[in-house]
Amino acid sequence: MNKAVLNYGGVETELDVLTGTEGEKGIDIQKLRCRTGIVTLDEGYANTGSCTSAVTYLDGEKGILRYRGYPIEELAARSRFVEVAYLLMYGELPTSKQLNSFSGLLNNSSLIHEDMRHFFLAFPNYAHPMGLLTTMVASLATFYPVPEEMGDEEERQVIANLVSQVRTIAAFSYKKFIGEPAVYPSYRLRFVENFLNMMFSSPVSNYQQDPDVVKAIDTFLVLHADHEQNCSTSTVRMVGSSLANVYAVISSGIAALWGRRHGGANQEVIAMLASILESGDDGRRFIENAKRKEARLMGFGHRVYRTFDPRAVILKNLCHKLLSKPGVNNPLFDIALKIEEAALKDDYFLSRNLYPNVDFYSGLILKAANIPYDMFTVLFAIGRTPGWLAHWREMRRNENTRIARPRQIYVGPALRNYIPLDKRGAPQTSTTAMREREQSTAGSGRFTPRRLLPMPPGETNSLGENGSEFA
Ligand code: CMC
Repeated sequence: MNKAVLNYGGVETELDVLTGTEGEKGIDIQKLRCRTGIVTLDEGYANTGSCTSAVTYLDGEKGILRYRGYPIEELAARSRFVEVAYLLMYGELPTSKQLNSFSGLLNNSSLIHEDMRHFFLAFPNYAHPMGLLTTMVASLATFYPVPEEMGDEEERQVIANLVSQVRTIAAFSYKKFIGEPAVYPSYRLRFVENFLNMMFSSPVSNYQQDPDVVKAIDTFLVLHADHEQNCSTSTVRMVGSSLANVYAVISSGIAALWGRRHGGANQEVIAMLASILESGDDGRRFIENAKRKEARLMGFGHRVYRTFDPRAVILKNLCHKLLSKPGVNNPLFDIALKIEEAALKDDYFLSRNLYPNVDFYSGLILKAANIPYDMFTVLFAIGRTPGWLAHWREMRRNENTRIARPRQIYVGPALRNYIPLDKRGAPQTSTTAMREREQSTAGSGRFTPRRLLPMPPGETNSLGENGSEFA
């Protein structure tokens, strides 16, 4: 095994270097603190491997993404989402028998407990479907108790419940939003058709399935199914490491996904393109604003991809196909193409490796499929659920899994004396600062002022500014 040598304070410490399947290397620092007393600091975990995983491989420099070894391009072209979900979860593409049995289980698990439907009545009509999804998925824990020791059969059922019911809850949330009765899932329909039917059919009208739309949504779900240790998946692993209930674990992933720097970006891209169109700009003015940091070009940039995001390439081609259908006119796509073209010639974006990410074109696909704007991130969550579960499952089986508990470098006040209520507001000094001040003024005659931490408005800081009385 290779070793890395750390020289700190004149003492050398040898650390193991691990090599992954594709040759990527990582220094194992698990024993660093006990050997040297120091920890590593890596805000945003940009340089930290939090686990070993056999689910997904990606190479951001080369624009490679593979699920269980299969290139994303091939899976998007040749596999359905349900097959990909099986692959992520169980490590192999299913045989037809395995696929039938998995599809059957998903169908049988697609209904949510009827009492849960009443919950929808209590939410306000304007509730964001992501808020509903987070809450409803967490509440599955109360309707489908999970045994303390879960065997393979129970685990298979939990996985099927989540993959299938996240989709049912998503469609019910939309129906609540538009004030229509819920449409139940049907065993006669495949995964995506079932979802579209629950969304768009009603007691007074049938929904006509368009095979191009079905394929586009299926591909969207395949492309979103996993992306190794992103924000929501790491959240799932972190919450899961405490052995929390699996429904709560997936709900935490959904909550993390909601943010606009993560899954919420697909909504933001459409909002951005619409506002550019409305302002009469063709994208050039917006790009200048983004370069001045007055705006952020949503759907651009990625923590990991530094050349291109392979998912964006597939979705761009899909956009061309879907939006070139007769009668479809989408001026937002034209703006998106112009922005991409201009940004990819601009030094600001090139020098920072900012390229379209999966969200740049995905919103346009969803819009063309008539998916309502507020449901965009929900669709991302339906797609990502198998990925979250695959990581949760992998983590459960790894005997080295420990509760996630990072360290920190504390930069707050040093030890100080407790201040009784009637004395607060007067200038206070920490005991350490007092000691330091005494030493520094006594020694060199110099005095370095202490930095003040920002205080919430209305509260008093340690110099008694903004003082207000507590009730
Ligand atoms: N528009 C303009 N400037 C940008 C953008 C952007 N979209 N993204 C990054 N930059 C600049 C940033 O201002 C910084 O500039 P400087 O070096 O002058 O300070 C530099 O590029 C590095 O940016 P960063 O914020 O340090 O990069 P990050 O790795 O922390 O953030 C990101 C990655 C995806 C959050 C960010 O690129 C971003 O906010 N993009 C827009 C939101 C978006 O599309 N999110 C979806 C991500 S893909 C889906 C998913 O996996 O969830």
